[in-house]
Amino acid sequence: MSKLIIEGSRRLRGNTKVQGSKNSILPILAACIICKDECVIHNCPNILDVRVTRRILEYLGCKTSFENHTFIVNSKDIFKNDIPDFLMREMRSSIIFLGSLISGIGSAKLSLPGGCELGPRPIDIHLDSLRQLGVRITESHGILECDGGKGLIGCNIAFSFPSVGATENLILAAVTAKGTTVITNAAKEPEVIDLINFLKKCGANIRYSHGGTIVITGVSRLHGAEHSVIPDRIVAITYMAAAAATSSSITIENVIEEHISSVIPIFEEAGCIITAKGKDVLQIDSPTRPYFNRIIRTMPYPGFPTDAQAPVMSMTSVADGTSIFVENIFSNRYKHVGELLRLGADIKVEDKVAIVEGVKKLSGAKVTAMDLRGAASLVVAGLGAEGVTEISGVKYIDRGYEDIEGNLSKLGAYIKRI
Ligand code: EPU
Repeated sequence: MSKLIIEGSRRLRGNTKVQGSKNSILPILAACIICKDECVIHNCPNILDVRVTRRILEYLGCKTSFENHTFIVNSKDIFKNDIPDFLMREMRSSIIFLGSLISGIGSAKLSLPGGCELGPRPIDIHLDSLRQLGVRITESHGILECDGGKGLIGCNIAFSFPSVGATENLILAAVTAKGTTVITNAAKEPEVIDLINFLKKCGANIRYSHGGTIVITGVSRLHGAEHSVIPDRIVAITYMAAAAATSSSITIENVIEEHISSVIPIFEEAGCIITAKGKDVLQIDSPTRPYFNRIIRTMPYPGFPTDAQAPVMSMTSVADGTSIFVENIFSNRYKHVGELLRLGADIKVEDKVAIVEGVKKLSGAKVTAMDLRGAASLVVAGLGAEGVTEISGVKYIDRGYEDIEGNLSKLGAYIKRI
């Protein structure tokens, strides 16, 4: 079991480059199986979730290679339609293979993803919308059996909530359906748009409006394509939070400003100066101590992202003032709070609200990460704390952050893995 050891209170400086987006690459790799051809994906982050996805692709019969951030999938010889329980359990977002298996080979057999560290994660919206397209779905003994019959037929589907995964699953299923599918109240996250852009390169016919309507006209088949995934906006925000918590100035490369436009004002209100330095490069200059008095509500995009809640909370826990977080997306996304308290933070949680009274200093302690973004928040807090912080549960951070200790060390942090 590895741990991260951080000696905090060091100023960060220099440049860091943001990796490709985890939540883009995962559905894009799942989409590759529809093409029955070779797909070349650049800017692929070397993270645990990608390695698990690779195992799923190979289990299904795909040939893969992954070097220097380029992932190549050849899905010509795909021969299975099931994903075994042990692989589904490794990564709950593997439910995204449902839509691509239905589209690519007409049927799918997956174990149910079940509850997880962020609370129960129902997939009712995924299943209801796939049923509307004509997928026959039976659930028994924790296994979902899905059959596309003689082919899916496009229709109009209105989501009750703009679920990211359900939008992606439905798009994947509809790209090869007969006729036109119109999704209203679809998710608008940049990762959904990245998936659409990739599928269009593969020959899919998809139109998208910023109001959240997606129109998909089915085509008989997709072909292989080359694509580069967008930068990971949550990783960029994590580095910004690290800079603010350590009163540092750093330059962040490979960040699309528009994708973090709901978060930039939060840092500016905290006293940080954010300057665009050419295309996709931002510099953040932080004050001696951030100050903060406001409410942050997590919302679907373009609102403040739930994935940024934990790392930004670490920044506000050392800011001068009181901040209030309202977590509207997941029911159990405050697990990091108990660990931040061990570091000396002053946070009270009731239901979906967390009240953070900024303290002058956090002090290093032994803490345990219990989910991915919670792990990132402990790294941010550890960097800002006095003394040594020892973080267990590092496997969570490895799910979504590539070489976090290497990148932060280059910025002057004292952080090592033991
Ligand atoms: N929901 C339902 N029924 C459904 C689908 C979703 O009730 O059928 C609920 C969920 O339980 C949750 C809310 O709707 O409370 C949002 O879920 P959504 O489907 O939008 O999220 P997701 O597709 O499961 C993706 C990201 C998450 C990110 C969320 C929200 C991937 C692989 N995961 O999850 O990323 O938090 O969208 O933006 O894309 C992370 O990167 O740390 C992470 C958890």
